[in-house]
Amino acid sequence: MSGRFITFEGIDGAGKSTHITALQAWLSARGHEVLLTREPGGSPLAEQLRELVLHQPMDALSETLLIFAARRDHLHTCIEPALARGAIVLCDRFTDATFAYQGAGRGFDLGVLAQLESWVQQGRQPDLTLWFDLPPQVAAERRAAARVPDRFEQQDTAFFARVRHGYAERMAQAPQRFVRLGADADRAAVWAQIASALEQRPWW
Ligand code: TYD
Repeated sequence: MSGRFITFEGIDGAGKSTHITALQAWLSARGHEVLLTREPGGSPLAEQLRELVLHQPMDALSETLLIFAARRDHLHTCIEPALARGAIVLCDRFTDATFAYQGAGRGFDLGVLAQLESWVQQGRQPDLTLWFDLPPQVAAERRAAARVPDRFEQQDTAFFARVRHGYAERMAQAPQRFVRLGADADRAAVWAQIASALEQRPWW
């Protein structure tokens, strides 16, 4: 059996990290091999690029090219081999984040993003994308309580409203791939939505 590729998306503060770990445990307990990974990053080279993208000032084109360079290495060295051996890959962000953050958030050309997506991914797309959706104001309050912001997390609520809109556009283009989760609910309620989305897939 070839594996499954599941991505986690949403604005910063949406609660992806808690649930990606919970889903890893849930799938492992059912006997699946699970690769838990993230973008930008996930491979040694891509993790070095992540440091630059998250902490060095640069323009939107440099940022986008570095993100896709990281993605290329990550896909080639980690994700594709794991899928080929039948693993379930859980990836904290993928190309929808580039369309949402660099495209909708920063105003970068969506046609160029689509070209890079097709060069780098060669048709590879997630089998399922869990979109943790919540109002930017709620996410900002959660972030303020939780951590020191990186370059993207320092952006204002208007930026995250654009990013959220970018995710909605991506979902409209691939509705069969996406499940939108109401992420302003409490943790147990969000988890119930995830378990239900997984159980409904014809994979098990
Ligand atoms: P994330 O892993 O959610 O951060 P944290 O480790 O703080 O939970 O994401 C890192 C940041 O990178 C996030 O603010 C969104 C940004 N990002 C982009 O701008 N474009 C992309 O293509 C990706 C994958 C992430």
